[in-house]
Amino acid sequence: MPREAKQLVESIDTTMKTLAATLFQIPPTVLPAGFKPNTRLQMDGLDFLAGQPETTYPAAFFDPQYRGVLEKLSYGNEGKDRGKRRCALKQMSEQVIGRFIREIDRVLTPSGHLFLWVDKFHLCRGVHPWLDGTGLDIVDLVTWDKATFGMGYRTRRRAEYCIILQKQPRRAKGVWKVHNIPDVIQERVFRKDHPHAKPVGLQGTLLAAVTDPGDTVIDPAAGSFSVLTAAQAHGRNFMGCDLEG
Ligand SMILES: C[S@@+](CC[C@H](N)C(=O)[O-])C[C@H]1O[C@@H](n2cnc3c(N)ncnc32)[C@H](O)[C@@H]1O
Repeated sequence: MPREAKQLVESIDTTMKTLAATLFQIPPTVLPAGFKPNTRLQMDGLDFLAGQPETTYPAAFFDPQYRGVLEKLSYGNEGKDRGKRRCALKQMSEQVIGRFIREIDRVLTPSGHLFLWVDKFHLCRGVHPWLDGTGLDIVDLVTWDKATFGMGYRTRRRAEYCIILQKQPRRAKGVWKVHNIPDVIQERVFRKDHPHAKPVGLQGTLLAAVTDPGDTVIDPAAGSFSVLTAAQAHGRNFMGCDLEG
C-alpha cells in the first residue's frame, strides 16, 4: 500500500477510536435510593431489577434456579440433605429466566458483561432462547472444575460453566483488562450455607477483569451472596438480593 494511503488509514483508525471512546464513555454510577449497596437484600430479583436505572452497571452475575438436569435426566439426589435444600428453593421457569436476562441487559452499561452460570444440560441445549430481545452476545466461556464428584447415571458431574456475555457494542480492547485468566479453573467450595454456592475466587477474578475499583456489580438471585464477598475482596461494590435473603 502506498505511504499516503497507509497514513490515511491510520488517521481514520485513530479518529474512529477517539469517537468510540467518547461515545462509549461510561458515566459515573448513580446508585438508586432505597437499595443499600453491600447488603444482603431479601426480595424478588425481578422487583429489584425493576428498581434499577437503565445502563448503570458494568457487570452482572446471574445463576438461575432451574431444575434442568434433575428434571430432564432424572438423576437427582433429592433424598440427600443437599437435594432437599435444593428442592426447597424457588424454581425459575424458562420465561422467568428470560425476564431476568432482559432486565439485566437493560441495566448493564454499553459493553457491560453478564456472567451467566449454567450446568451441562443448559450448556448443551443452548441458552439462545433466553437472550431473545436483548443486545447480549456470547463472548467467552469459563469452566469451573469443582474438584468434587456430583451425580450422573453415565459420567458424574464435576464441572459447571460460566457463559460470558457482553452487551452491545461488543469489544474486548479497553474493557476486558486481565489477560491471564485460564478458561478452566479449579476451586473447591464448601457448601455449608447454600447448596448452589459458586466459587468466590473465580467470580472475583472475572469481575475484576471488567470493572474498576469502586464500580458496582449486581446479582439479582444471589444465594449465598458469593458475589458480594468476591466484590468486597476486590474493592468493588455490590447490589443484589435473593428471595431467601
Ligand atoms: C442457583 S442459586 C444462586 C447461588 C449463588 N450464585 C451463590 O453463589 O450462592 C439461585 C438462587 O435464586 C433464588 N431465587 C429463586 N427465585 C428468585 C427470585 N424470583 N428472585 C430472587 N431470587 C430468587 C433462590 O432462592 C436461590 O438462592
